[in-house]
Amino acid sequence: MTLPNIPEERVPAHVAIIMDGNGRWAEERGLHRTQGHEMGEKALFDVVEGALEVGIRYLSVYAFSTENWNRPQEEVDFLMGFNRMLLRQRRGDLDERRVKIRRVGRRAGVPEDVLVEFDEAEAKTAHHDRMDLLICFNYGGRAELEDAASTGGPLAENLYAPEVPDVDLLIRTSGEMRLSNFLLWQSAYAELYFTDVLWPDFDRHALFKALEDYASRERRFGGL
Ligand code: IPE
Ligand code: IPE
Ligand code: MG
Repeated sequence: MTLPNIPEERVPAHVAIIMDGNGRWAEERGLHRTQGHEMGEKALFDVVEGALEVGIRYLSVYAFSTENWNRPQEEVDFLMGFNRMLLRQRRGDLDERRVKIRRVGRRAGVPEDVLVEFDEAEAKTAHHDRMDLLICFNYGGRAELEDAASTGGPLAENLYAPEVPDVDLLIRTSGEMRLSNFLLWQSAYAELYFTDVLWPDFDRHALFKALEDYASRERRFGGL
């Protein structure tokens, strides 16, 4: 498929994705849930390619929530190791594509060896300005607002990535229609897009479909 048929001014600056449905994708196939997470990697990097093709400036992806610690220890451990490996293996490719990698979320609670990979990926790509890939990891919207409030300063200036514009388009896969504590402040006026596609089956073409839908929306921001 070719690029989405949308005028440049209708390309959202900031797209946020709740990458959901990995477990169900695996269970449907009689596989272990963790195999669903593994298959989600391909979806993510195809979406990154698609976002680059279209010229999206900020892409936020929900990789691990502050509530995901409540999963069985085995799955939590898998996700920590998996994300560590993924950062190590993919940061070179992302660097070549001039993508800036950024970790968004609380450091406290994340294993040191995972933080090290994030820090290295961030350092390696910090000078890029083609696209920011914000990996929301140990991220919770409420935690972010609590952390911002605890500074005593204005909330909007003390978010984890305060200079990133609000979310224009928020995508959630797997048919669930809720925010699950994602980017609560930044999504105040986001256009919401829900699809039944499970995350491992998502790709750049599914992203383009969402972008075409977004381009047809009328945003009013409370005005007329
Ligand atoms: C999303 O897929 C990935 C993470 C939350 C880390 P899930 O693991 O939530 O998959 P389902 O919702 O159980 O199918
Ligand atoms: C949201 O999905 C978190 C991520 C995609 C990382 P969940 O699967 O954790 O959300 P709930 O539990 O269905 O609300
Ligand atoms: Mg889920």
